[in-house]
Formats: sequence, structure tokens, C-alpha cells
Amino acid sequence: MCGIVAYIGPQEAHPILIKGLKRLEYRGYDSAGIAILNDTLKVFKTKGKVADLEEFIREKDVHGTIGMAHTRWATHGEPNNVNAHPHFSQSEELALIHNGIIENYAVIREELRQNGYSFQSDTDTEVLIQLIEYIKKKSNASLIEAVQSALTQVVGAYAIVILSKTDKDTIIAARKGSPLVVGIGENEFLLASDATPIVEYTKDVVYLDDEEIAIIKRGESLKVKTIRDVEKFPVVSKLEINLSQLEKEGYDHFMLKEIFEQPKTIRDSYRGRINCNNQVISMAGIIDHVDRFMNADRIIITAAGTSWHAGLVGEYLFEEIARIPVEVEYSSEFRYRNPVIYPNDVIIAISQSGETADTLAAIELGKQKGAFIYGICNVVGSSIARATDAGSYTHAGPEIGVASTKAFTAQVTVLVLMALALGQRKGTIDDASIQRILSELQEIPEKVERTLTLSPVIRDISRMFTYSRNFLYLGRGFNFPVALEGALKLKEISYIHAEGYPAAEMKHGPIALIDREMPVVVIATNSGTYEKIISNIQEVKARKGKIIAIVTEGDVTVKELADFCLEIPSTEEMLVPLLATIPLQILAYYIAVFRDCNVDQPRNLAKSVTVE
Ligand code: F6R
Repeated sequence: MCGIVAYIGPQEAHPILIKGLKRLEYRGYDSAGIAILNDTLKVFKTKGKVADLEEFIREKDVHGTIGMAHTRWATHGEPNNVNAHPHFSQSEELALIHNGIIENYAVIREELRQNGYSFQSDTDTEVLIQLIEYIKKKSNASLIEAVQSALTQVVGAYAIVILSKTDKDTIIAARKGSPLVVGIGENEFLLASDATPIVEYTKDVVYLDDEEIAIIKRGESLKVKTIRDVEKFPVVSKLEINLSQLEKEGYDHFMLKEIFEQPKTIRDSYRGRINCNNQVISMAGIIDHVDRFMNADRIIITAAGTSWHAGLVGEYLFEEIARIPVEVEYSSEFRYRNPVIYPNDVIIAISQSGETADTLAAIELGKQKGAFIYGICNVVGSSIARATDAGSYTHAGPEIGVASTKAFTAQVTVLVLMALALGQRKGTIDDASIQRILSELQEIPEKVERTLTLSPVIRDISRMFTYSRNFLYLGRGFNFPVALEGALKLKEISYIHAEGYPAAEMKHGPIALIDREMPVVVIATNSGTYEKIISNIQEVKARKGKIIAIVTEGDVTVKELADFCLEIPSTEEMLVPLLATIPLQILAYYIAVFRDCNVDQPRNLAKSVTVE
């Protein structure tokens, strides 16, 4: 979604801002803009890519050491030059960039119109900066006071940065619901919606909390106060990411790089959490709150998209290993349907970005009902990581490709460890089984390496299906979420319609779709339901569907039935998702590449969905 970057310091601002916007491109956007403060306050903005903005400002006067820039993902008003940020106030004294949504903008706009204000754009953002100017003038208030007053009137989410023509050495920023990070360098400050534009300049950051305002003045230290004027002490954290993680490092796309990083990221997810004789799983989040887990009558997992698919794998894991009933909820549905939540429920929120608005709202709901909230997040210091009572990071490193890959396998790895840790304590799994599964888990990175060697074969298969219009993905048990995930990967980056189904459900409807034009991807690895899934494959074959099967190395039966067979190493049934997902990621990737799609930034999608 929208991206924010701002700079104040001794250096020329605009190269830093443009570079920052490029780092934020992965979030998804449709227009970009920049404001520079020198002898006056200048704004340049355009529909399209950051490269278009770069071209647009090439001949313009953008010199100055203070500025801000924005990538916009349209919500209110179509993507065009006018709706792009920054937005000026009526007098052009102030300019604002904004992530989030001001929900009551229509009412405020009407009031401002009655007070003589007019609006250039269709955005909620312009309403906010006009409101700030209106309050400032009407009440003869300072800019900070006007910002505080305006922010107590707006409903919704915001991360904002404001520049003022009359104060050439100050940046004002604030957040509620949308993330904002302040980087503290030597005599300079950077602000951004995530750490990626900052890491090149400093590792010292302050994460603003909801309703906090940062007042950044040249040559002074950072001041933070709330919208209700309470002074806050800024807590400085250290960034754990490094620059190479934000580069493609020779790969054509971030998505491909991230697929190939999975042996390492899976290892990083379990590293330090298993003791040397495979007996104890140490996860501080569980150890410190073991009673909450032991007393839980059930676990509710809440998430969106790929993280929701990981949650489904979690359901199978917790029920199988720890014998705790689990419900897996789409955060967007859960938050609005008055769900039954008991104080002794444990809610696990899963999120790569840690910023998904619906998941944050689901957490708030759970908190209000007294449930214990556990987070599984990838981004350190993210809003969800900070909103939960406890949690485990996935340690997959920055995921830049919009389609989630390594985050999924890292989430599943953490869920395996959690299920084993709880099963161990509850006595629902014996030590020998724990040792067997843990030693197998540590074989997974090497098995992922082997699975990745299928890449050239999958590339050839992808070429044959480049122009298919539909795909069906089938799996059972632990492989059902894998089927859903495979279908999601394909549709988001190649724009081919794809459905994931539990294989046996096919005959209750989707079978009607099958003909010789329909590719059906079946995950048919060794499992308790292997024989059953062979029957499902026969049903597809009888209707002339084209079968691409993922099987266990050495398989004979499926090989005879399928048109294409991809063999993955044998492993524990519950760990198969960590391997079976890989060929499906690669299949989606190559089909998208052959269709000339923008793999890393698919149309209409955003990496972190900070609006509902
Ligand atoms: C799919 C994808 C999305 C996200 C979803 C949740 O490839 O990336 O479906 O999984 O938007 O995002 P997080 O995990 O950041 O909460």
C-alpha cells in the first residue's frame, strides 16, 4: 500500500527520497509525488511509477535538504496526477502525505466547504490538510496544536508527514493504525512507512505508537508527544535487516530470490529453538505464558491471505499434535461477526507484514474479550508484533515480492514448533515422536534445496500452460492448504483464474469444469489419504483434464496417471507443506514470467494491506 519517506539533514533530500520511494515500490502503488522545502514549498507528483516521477522532476528545481515523498495506492479517487500526494492546503502554506483512510472525511469536507474551502482532489487526505490549516488560522494555533486538534477529530487510520512553508527546519509526523518509523542518523532524520528506505543510513529507529506525533527539528533531538499533548520518551530500537536483503542479488525478481532463500529462512525460523538432542523446544513466548496455553479450551487462528493458509496448516498441526481444538478465521470476517470469544481462549494472529488492518482489528476484538493474543509476525517491531501479548518472530527476513513465499514456509515452521512445544507439555505426543519430527524438520532445508532443483523442469511445464485460462489445485489433509496457497500464488501474479479445493470436494461441483483445457494440479504425496487421492486423479483423468502431480520421490502409481509428475523428497506427513509448496511457487512464477506479468508488483495488489 502507500509508502512514505521523508528526510531532514545536511544532504540533498531529493535523491534520498527517490531512492526511498524505490525501496517502497514493493508495497504496491499507482502514483508518486515529492515535496521539497527550500525558499518555498514545492510539490511535484504524477500518475505512474517512481521512474516517471524521476523523469518529471529531472529539469525542475528540487534542491533542498528537507523534503518528503509518497507512493499512493488509490482508495478515494482514481489514480491520477491530482489525487497523488503530497496535497497542499488551500493557501499552499502546508503540504501533507498520508497513508491510511480518514473515514469521516465527507462530513469534514462539507463543513470546510461551508467555511470557504475548495478541494482540488477526490481524496480524504486533502481534507485532512485543509482541516489542519483551517484550525491553525481560525484558532491562531501553532502547527502542532492544529495537528493535535485535527487528529482528535478524524476517524480512521493515518500515518502522516507535514511540511510548512513558514517553518523551513521542521517535519511533523503522526500515526494511528498505519505504521511510521523515524530513523535517527548523524545530524539527520529519515521517516518512512517501513524500515527499508532507512536501513542504508542508520540502524537506530523509533517506532511511533498510535496517536503519537513526532516533532523533528534540524539540529535538535527527536520529540514525541501524543495528540492529547502528553510528552513521550522516544525508545530507540536497532534494525536487524541489512541492505543486501533488499537487493535482488542477481535474481531476475525478488520473488524468485525469496523462493530460493527458503532453505535458509526455514533454518532461521527454527534456529535456536530446538536443543541439541531434539528434546526441548524453547520458545520464550510459550514458556513465559505456558499456563494460558495449558488452560486454553481452544485456539483461534486469525489471519488473511497466505498467512490464513499457514493458519490452516496450524489447525491440522495443533489438533494432531497437541489435541487442542482450533478454529481458523479470516480476520476480515472475524472482526465484524460478533464472534464468541472466551477469556481463556488463545488467539494466534499470523501476519508477515505485521500491519494487516483486519488482523490488527481482530486482535483488538480478542483483547476486549480478555483472550490471550499470540502473534506470529515476520517484520520486527511491526504493529501486530507490538499489539500482541506474546509471540514468535518468523525470522524470514524482508519479503519484497508482493506474493508471499518464504514467509509462508517460515510461518509453518513456527507453527510446527509451537504445536510440538504444546504437545510436549500436554503429554499428547511421546518423546520419541517429538525427536523424530524435530530431526526431520532439520532435514527440511536440504530437502528444499533438492526440491528447488526441479526448477528447470517446472519452467518447461509452465511454458505449456502459459495461456491456460483456469487452473484447479487439489490436495487433502495437510496438503489442502497447500492447494489453496498454490492457487492463490498463480492468480495473484499471472492473473489466471485458479481455485484450490479439498480433492474429495471436487465431485460436489468443480468437476463440472473439467475438460481437456483444464490443468489440474494435484498434491498426491505419501499420506494416509494417498489411495483416496488416486481415485480423485482418476476422476479428473476420465474427463480428460491435464494432471500436474506433486508426488513423493519413488512414486509409481500417480506417475502412470499424471501428464506431468514432480517428485519431492519424502518427509513426515505434517512437514510436507514445507516442500510441496515450493514447486507451486515456481510454477506460478514461471507462468507469470511467460505471460509478461509484473511478478514482484502484480496489478492492484499491495504488500501490506493497511486499510480494511
Ligand atoms: C499472498 C499475499 C497476501 C498476504 C495477506 C496477509 O501472496 O501476500 O495474501 O498473505 O495480505 O498479509 P500479512 O501476512 O502481511 O498479514
